[in-house]
Amino acid sequence: MDFNLTEEHLMIQQAARDFAQNELLPGVIERDEKQQFPTEQIKKMGELGFLGMMVDPKYGGSGLDTISYALAMEEISKVDASASVVMSVNNSLVCWGLQTFGTEEQKQKYLTKLATGEIIGAFCLSEPEAGSDATSQRTTAIDKGDHYLLNGTKNWITNGSTASVYLVIAQTDVDKKHKGINALIVEKGMPGFEIGPKEQKLGIRGSDTHSLMFTDVKVPKENRIGEDGFGFTFAMKTLAGGRIGIASQALGIASGAYELALKYSKERKAFGKEISQHQAIAFKLADMATEIEAARFLVLKSAWDKDQHKNYDLSGAMAKLYASQVAMDTTIEAVQIHGGNGYVKEYHVERLMRDAKITQIYEGTSEIQKIVISRSILTQ
Ligand code: CAA
Ligand code: FAD
Repeated sequence: MDFNLTEEHLMIQQAARDFAQNELLPGVIERDEKQQFPTEQIKKMGELGFLGMMVDPKYGGSGLDTISYALAMEEISKVDASASVVMSVNNSLVCWGLQTFGTEEQKQKYLTKLATGEIIGAFCLSEPEAGSDATSQRTTAIDKGDHYLLNGTKNWITNGSTASVYLVIAQTDVDKKHKGINALIVEKGMPGFEIGPKEQKLGIRGSDTHSLMFTDVKVPKENRIGEDGFGFTFAMKTLAGGRIGIASQALGIASGAYELALKYSKERKAFGKEISQHQAIAFKLADMATEIEAARFLVLKSAWDKDQHKNYDLSGAMAKLYASQVAMDTTIEAVQIHGGNGYVKEYHVERLMRDAKITQIYEGTSEIQKIVISRSILTQ
């Protein structure tokens, strides 16, 4: 067993770390406060190859492995989880889904632009009545011969207004239940496609989250991904990899908060010594460091499973479940270690604490991860 990262992995990690420090850190507090999308920063991420990391270079991607992607996600998320969710959706849900299951025409038309960040994508599964219960799709895509007629509402869509391409899951044949669901590529601007107002959020406030409304949107048949009825399997397979991305995001939020708390604890003095010299604080740091290390092993193991073409449904769900809990616990303690300073924006840890919570909710809540994990271990 080799726990060493390769030279290439270390280079990518360093490049992401430099980008986060130089390009994301300045302005991150303001973007959070104003709910401002990191437009310029996302453009640069595209130029540096962070938006199509695992895409084949022949489609404009960086051709890297999942471990590289997880390392970059961690570094970006240490500083700006709003930027990293854009990166995560584009890489692991949109680009991966298209590269793995799209036709050559779909790849040429959409993937090449998505992988370079020329445009960004969105993944649209959730609905007002279908969140965790994802098979209960109410959005319909009725087969009209050469096109589908799309009607319905999607909720909580990341990149909702900034995306140009949307992978939309919809029910074609109700009688066939989840086997009658399709995944369609919908373009912004198609007649009948409307974008709802931006959600006002607790965390990841720089990312844009919207409802989407479809009224008689004509989607050409060639925009269907996979065979008729493949849509739910497409969503599940894509989300299995997406969860590795969100686990990496949670790990980054936790390690970012830990690094800030460690530094602060060595600078701040109380009762004549640095607060890190008080055992109550030192033990908090010990717990944080241990839990982050454990989360990192789970994240990298799930990324490695994917790279080795092993099944990663279980390891990805475990990584997301655990890393998101560590993100929550660590950020709360990081605020505590900062005392009053932890409660104000300029010290960053309050934002990381608000950002941490979403990692327990999206791409399958923690309860859903436990369903995935328990079903997997009980059928082994
Ligand atoms: N790969 C392939 N197929 C899978 C699969 C996987 N990982 N997981 C399930 N399936 C298949 C099953 O085999 C089954 O098909 P068959 O009947 O042909 O065998 C079908 O999907 C239905 O599966 P279940 O019977 O297990 O369905 P269920 O109703 O019990 O639900 C669930 C399963 C795991 C709870 C699923 O509904 C789920 O994952 N829910 C959470 C939804 C979610 O994660 N949403 C995230 C939205 S995207 C997002 O959030 C992005 C973002 O924030 C940035
Ligand atoms: P519900 O499913 O109503 O769950 C409510 C509670 O009940 C949760 O605690 C849940 O764990 C629990 N629960 C539900 N069923 C069970 C069960 N069987 N057993 C035990 N507990 C259960 N979706 C997209 O498709 N694309 C996106 O880009 C996207 N981005 C998002 C961005 C943000 C900021 C947010 C908040 C959400 C986003 N989502 C996106 C939606 C997200 O995936 C859902 O919110 C999530 O899957 C939970 O669904 P729900 O909100 O309907 O909660």
